[in-house]
Amino acid sequence: MKELWVELGPQRYPIRVERGLLHHVGEWLLKDERIKGKKAFLLSEIRVAEHYLEPVRSSLERAGIEVYTKVVSAGEASKSLTQVEEIVGAMLTAGIDRSSLLLALGGGVIGDLGGFIASVYMRGIPFIGLPTTILAHDSSIGGKVAVNHPLAKNSIGSFYHPLAVYYDPGTFATLPMREVKSGLAEVVKHALLAGKEFFYWLRAHSDALLSLDGEEMGEALIRGMRVKVRIVEADERETAGVRELLNLGHTIGHAVEAAAGYGEVLHGEAVAIGLVQEGRIARGRGLLSEEELNEIKDLLLSFGLPTELPSEMRMEELLPYMYRDKKNRDGKIRMALLQGIGTAKGMEVTEEEILALDQTK
Ligand SMILES: NC(=O)c1ccc[n+]([C@@H]2O[C@H](COP(=O)([O-])OP(=O)(O)OC[C@H]3O[C@@H](n4cnc5c(N)ncnc54)[C@H](O)[C@@H]3O)[C@@H](O)[C@H]2O)c1
Ligand SMILES: [Zn+2]
Repeated sequence: MKELWVELGPQRYPIRVERGLLHHVGEWLLKDERIKGKKAFLLSEIRVAEHYLEPVRSSLERAGIEVYTKVVSAGEASKSLTQVEEIVGAMLTAGIDRSSLLLALGGGVIGDLGGFIASVYMRGIPFIGLPTTILAHDSSIGGKVAVNHPLAKNSIGSFYHPLAVYYDPGTFATLPMREVKSGLAEVVKHALLAGKEFFYWLRAHSDALLSLDGEEMGEALIRGMRVKVRIVEADERETAGVRELLNLGHTIGHAVEAAAGYGEVLHGEAVAIGLVQEGRIARGRGLLSEEELNEIKDLLLSFGLPTELPSEMRMEELLPYMYRDKKNRDGKIRMALLQGIGTAKGMEVTEEEILALDQTK
């Protein structure tokens, strides 16, 4: 069992990582003195529920907890206010009250949706995260919960922390390989912000990570989450300028994701492209060596990730998206730029530097 305590918000909370953990969630909840209620609402989505709803439900029932379940459609469309209203209706009908628990079993979509509902249902009820994707190692920390508005992704949200997160890497066995690779891009990003050791550890264990069957994946998740915890603790509400470092690879990454049309290029794939393209800007400024840039590119390629823009895409068409980025100040584009493997700094970047990337493929 690997464990990480997150010292954020009014309460500290543990993230526990172990294969097979989903079968023991009930036992863990019984040990938690903060939990008073004996009722739980278990939220999941169809692709995840198919494999993991029953083990979780029976574990909760063995612990004497009365369980109500709701399974929504898979995918981003479920992060909507319409869905919130429907789920709240089911919770009210089930008699879920302030002492009851809401458990979110699934990837980032269910984590964001479940966390948002927990934050507003009766002005807040205890929330437990049960992540089932690699990418969710990122969303499990930082307390950002949200649903989408038709005009903008994640535009209706709040900050709300779980009581605990139980993370079972055994669930990745059923995750499509493309999602596995995409999730690893975010692990690489965390490694690039954490000194050299983690990055070279990833490189040494890349085959084991892709094979999914050793203990390495749990180790990578814990290490990645530790990096995010450290940065978020320093800047919980994104006011001190430290949290923008977590946007490494994301200024260009988000633009690629949006320009391609959401779902065409997966989030982690777009981040992998962004890491290399933004790395070239850092290289151009002499902040990153050619050798380091190649090491980053090679690691992403070894995880089967893309590192160049889709062939029909040009930086010029990505600029308008970058101008809408939340990190910008006074209309200038900002990026987190690497200063060697392991450190980054938020900086202004010029249009010329971005457009020049089209010439350096
Ligand atoms: N709150 C945050 O800080 C934060 C951070 C990053 C991302 N996010 C959000 O997370 C979402 C993306 O997360 P995600 O990539 O986990 O997406 P997801 O929840 O949609 O999961 C990706 C795909 O894998 C399937 N799936 C999930 N777990 C599975 C399993 N174990 N076996 C088989 N199939 C499985 C899902 O049905 C889906 O098709 C986005 O909505 C994004 O906005 C939030
Ligand atoms: Zn990301």
